[in-house]
Amino acid sequence: MNLKNQSILITGGSSGIGLELAKNLAGKGNKVIICGRSAERLQAAVQSEPRLLPFVCDVAEPEEIKKLVQWISENHPDLNVLINNAAIVSKTDFFNDDRALEQANLEYQTNLLAPIRLIKLLYPILIKNESPAIINVTTGLVYAPRVIYPFYNSSKSALHSFTQTLRLSLAGKNIQVFEVLFPAVDTPWHQGNPPKIAIPVSQAVREMLAGLKKDKPEIRVGSAKILYLISRLAPGFALKKVNQIQ
Ligand SMILES: NC(=O)c1ccc[n+]([C@@H]2O[C@H](COP(=O)([O-])OP(=O)(O)OC[C@H]3O[C@@H](n4cnc5c(N)ncnc54)[C@H](OP(=O)(O)O)[C@@H]3O)[C@@H](O)[C@H]2O)c1
Repeated sequence: MNLKNQSILITGGSSGIGLELAKNLAGKGNKVIICGRSAERLQAAVQSEPRLLPFVCDVAEPEEIKKLVQWISENHPDLNVLINNAAIVSKTDFFNDDRALEQANLEYQTNLLAPIRLIKLLYPILIKNESPAIINVTTGLVYAPRVIYPFYNSSKSALHSFTQTLRLSLAGKNIQVFEVLFPAVDTPWHQGNPPKIAIPVSQAVREMLAGLKKDKPEIRVGSAKILYLISRLAPGFALKKVNQIQ
């Protein structure tokens, strides 16, 4: 995939991996639109890289997604790359958590249904432009889930499966479909308490971009590669190890 002079939307481009990616791509001559819920966080991102184009949008709200798509079709009809990166996670003790069902709904809306909605609504714009691509961000936990994140694991596993079928249904069309599976990355996601194995965000984004350049459809970053292999050879062991992470 060519990573220069593209017109790119990154959901959740105001923090962590999305922000690092946005700054990197804006520096390579790409037009980069970022969206997120917090106008303040988006503004701070623009202060750190003035070439970024912000748009406030809560992707968990279908009506807000429609407004984003309308704004893009009117102002940036050259959009050719969609990066579905925004996501949320919550620790849940399923049977003892009174908010569990509410949380499940929010995580599924944000992590799974928002990417599906954006793909459906933006496809007609993407496909009209040169070298279109859809990039979905997931996690090594699609191979072995952590018990403390029941909705996060399962929403991302569903996105992994959706991405595989999307790639098959678009085979033969002029559009690329990528999935990037990250290991633990040191970002605000971990609220100041990243796991010991977390890698720096600069390394995560560097590996992601290297995979995209090589046109690898599934880019397993860092230890997500090892988790993939172990989960194939010894699934029970992979599950045990993932749930021992401190
Ligand atoms: N960090 C890790 O260890 C790790 C590991 C594996 C995979 N990943 C994946 O990498 C991606 C980015 O994670 P990160 O670590 O960079 O997280 P982060 O630092 O928490 O950033 C998340 C971004 O998503 C935005 N966002 C959250 N909910 C949103 C919503 N409803 N609508 C619009 N934007 C929303 C946030 O902005 P607002 O809060 O302002 O909305 C923020 O810009 C996620 O898909 C995550 O699953 C991360």
